[in-house]
Amino acid sequence: MSATFDFSGKNVFVVGGTSGINFGIAQGFARWGAKVMVASRSTDKVEAAVAGLRELGAEASGTAFDVRDAEAVTEGFKAAVDFFGGPIDILVSGAAGNFPAKLNDMSANAIRSVVDIDLMGTFHVMKAAHEHLAKPGASVINISAPQAFLPMSYQAHVCAAKAGVDMVTRSLALEWGRDGIRVNSIVPGPIADTEGMDRLAPTPEIKEAVTKSVPIGRMGGVDDIAKAAGYLSSDAGAYVSGVVLPVDGGWSQAGATSVMSKMAHMMDKMMAN
Ligand code: HXC
Ligand code: NAP
Repeated sequence: MSATFDFSGKNVFVVGGTSGINFGIAQGFARWGAKVMVASRSTDKVEAAVAGLRELGAEASGTAFDVRDAEAVTEGFKAAVDFFGGPIDILVSGAAGNFPAKLNDMSANAIRSVVDIDLMGTFHVMKAAHEHLAKPGASVINISAPQAFLPMSYQAHVCAAKAGVDMVTRSLALEWGRDGIRVNSIVPGPIADTEGMDRLAPTPEIKEAVTKSVPIGRMGGVDDIAKAAGYLSSDAGAYVSGVVLPVDGGWSQAGATSVMSKMAHMMDKMMAN
């Protein structure tokens, strides 16, 4: 990773940080000298992620909880500050669930599962975090998605949930500003080799169509998102709060909605065969 930051002495908690983009963010902070804690549902994934962070030389730990369970989230934050021995300097909240589906093919429970993970999970994490955040100085980053502001076929549940996440970000930037806490969202574009892209672009043909639709001509890597989290949490981002920051090679400005609709039709064809 070419960008460098110095986060030595900083405590970083990445919720949903055991795979994909969020693990990439945790790895970034580990490389930049921070003490890092990760959390997600699967104890196996937590253990593997912690081992990966330690391989990078970081002091790292992990805990397992489901962001849908407010009490478990509160306990998870207690475990995090026990491990850190002090307040949390940087919090990344990125647990999410997604599957492409037509609204009429989703049960109430299917819709609820995504809204509960993405939106209620964000509320639970923010509520449990506040008392443990460094005041002043904490940087809070919610991981959003282009669906938050771009309508996409087969994504009504995700669009609604992620739009809510960004309004939580913007509201808390106001509410917590006086505590010296900055709150921002990062909106990753299509990121290669991730669960999210494998679910939304399940064939090489669909992946190629997505790649072609990105103005700078490539999918992002998890490093691209880690570097944005580093920027927002470093002194370079000290006056940035309440921002919803696309890190997407220009994708949200050009074609994201139409390519996603095309993908939906390609998926229909795929399922019909
Ligand atoms: C319709 C579906 C479905 C599908 C699940 N359900 N998949 N309905 N179409 N394809 C329904 C189930 O039938 C069930 O409803 C309900 O959803 C809950 O499913 P469970 O499997 O019981 O839930 P759970 O074990 O809690 O899992 C949650 C999940 C799962 C969201 C369904 O996919 C998950 O754990 N995802 C986490 C990983 C993930 O999604 N990563 C990608 C994030 S990418 P019934 O009525 O039968 O009980 C992202 C944005 C990418 O967020 C943006 C790219 C540009
Ligand atoms: P991923 O690898 O599936 O990451 C999701 C993470 O959240 C995992 O660590 C998962 O671990 C955890 N998680 C899921 N449900 C949870 C729950 N209920 N409670 C606690 N933890 C939970 O997916 P990804 O594609 O990298 O996506 C990561 C983030 O980026 C998401 O917020 C997503 O919306 C966003 N995003 C992704 C893309 C993309 O191109 N991939 C684009 C835009 C936005 P467990 O399974 O162990 O719980």
